[in-house]
Amino acid sequence: MNVKDAFHAKKHDAKEIFRKQCSSCHIDAGKGRKGIELFNADCIMCHNYGKTASPVSVMRDIPEDKLKRGIEEGVKGSSMPGWADTKGGPLTKEETDSLVEFIKGLK
Ligand code: HEC
Ligand code: HEC
Repeated sequence: MNVKDAFHAKKHDAKEIFRKQCSSCHIDAGKGRKGIELFNADCIMCHNYGKTASPVSVMRDIPEDKLKRGIEEGVKGSSMPGWADTKGGPLTKEETDSLVEFIKGLK
């Protein structure tokens, strides 16, 4: 982790990113957005070159159903939380689908 401030000084559970004190920076900018705009607001701080998680160019090769499951349910043991509103995250099915479409290059 590169950020050194009160919010990022210690290790957090992946889900904590949805909490109020974190969502102002991590989630709120993505509200009402879809596709690339949603990705740039909520995902790119971790999913980019030189960051902790794979950039879009790498995720693009993941089969669509696996990609969708990864976003909705998260990745156990990593800082990737499940983003689906059915899993306690902020994203509707429609929003998740828009991310899959963007990552796969369909839109
Ligand atoms: C003031 C804005 C702000 C707040 C509040 C904030 N973050 Fe962040 N966070 C950022 C930014 C910006 C980055 C990306 C930093 C980078 O690109 O190196 C980031 C990155 C992260 C990362 C990814 C680090 C990595 O390199 O993989 C995690 C995990 C994280 N934040 C968790 C949290 C948690 C949990 C909270 C609440 C306790 C929180 N953040 C609150 C702005 C914030
Ligand atoms: C706080 C950091 C962080 C944020 C924010 C984040 N991710 Fe992740 N993500 C990870 C990590 C770490 C992994 C596990 C390592 C990897 O697969 O690159 C992961 C894994 C994934 C996977 C599974 C990849 C695979 O190989 O199966 C997908 C898909 C994914 N993320 C999409 C997203 C999307 C879309 C968003 C925005 C809604 C997002 N992530 C937000 C950190 C993050």
